[in-house]
Amino acid sequence: MAILPPTPQNLSACCDRLKAGGLIGLPTETVYGLAADATNASALAALYATKARPNFNPLITHVADLETARGLGRFNAVAEKLAAAFWPGPLTLVVPRSADCAIDLLASAGLDSLALRCPAHPVAQALLQQLQKPLAAPSANPSGRLSPSRAEHVANMLPDIDILDGGASTVGLESSIVGCLQETPVWLRSGGISRHDVEACLGFKIDDLPDEADATAKLAPGRLARHYAPKAKLVLNVNTLEDDRLLLGFGADAPHGAAANLSPSGDLAEAASQLFAQLHDLDAMAVAQNKHIGVMPIPQHGLGEAINDRLTRAAAN
Ligand code: TXA
Ligand code: MG
Repeated sequence: MAILPPTPQNLSACCDRLKAGGLIGLPTETVYGLAADATNASALAALYATKARPNFNPLITHVADLETARGLGRFNAVAEKLAAAFWPGPLTLVVPRSADCAIDLLASAGLDSLALRCPAHPVAQALLQQLQKPLAAPSANPSGRLSPSRAEHVANMLPDIDILDGGASTVGLESSIVGCLQETPVWLRSGGISRHDVEACLGFKIDDLPDEADATAKLAPGRLARHYAPKAKLVLNVNTLEDDRLLLGFGADAPHGAAANLSPSGDLAEAASQLFAQLHDLDAMAVAQNKHIGVMPIPQHGLGEAINDRLTRAAAN
């Protein structure tokens, strides 16, 4: 829609937009982000839809400062040290969610961990401080396109989005990501801060994330999993109730007695916004009652593609 200079009026308008569940283009020192209120499930569903991603990748949550971050996730000694050294800046830390974490599960794709970053860009800082809410912000490009380093790049790719203009991103590539879920940190993504600098700060070398097979052998199961996996067995494309089944419904045709419904009206954005929360709830119930979870068919268009991708992975576990 428009490239907005970062005036006080435009910052206020963007805060209002975000509080109402809207999306904005946000300048950061790494790349421009497509920002949504990380506590608002339907805003996050709209974000995934706008990026047209065929799956739900967990997103990075952006905060104004370390104190805010500490309220959302649990910082161990390594995370504290890295945040003190590199925040604000192009380093993302993956930490366990705190018990009362306000971030919606859709932001972290159902995981019990959270990727947190405190951006250095003055416009991102000004917006986060005024908004007083955490922002989920993946790069502001449709899936498969180049990450934007100028407001014009975003405007060309996402013409319906208002973008705060913060000039050219100085770093120009995404943040580096360090996993801090255990005492020993893990290098998850190379980006704006060099591995050498991170290792120099800590005084020891950091390993890459071991591949999946290794990971299950070496680490506590699921600790570093990139996808949330339900414990109960999951069966797809079923429409009927069974004694040993909790049915996750979709749409108006769900039978009475379905344990939950992703969207009674058949709205895929609503279904996306409910997916992880309802899966978590049903999983706990299914385990307690020794049942499996059955899921009604979800149409394979729009956000349905990402929903089905997630459900297919969950069913394959
Ligand atoms: O520089 C950046 O980090 C940019 C700007 C806009 O800040 N943002 C960005 O966000 O790249 P995003 O949401 O696209 O990054 C998502 C990546 C995932 O693909 C995954 O690698 C990692 O962050 N990630 C997020 N949550 C995670 C988690 N709980 N565990 C492990 N990795 C996670
Ligand atoms: Mg990206």
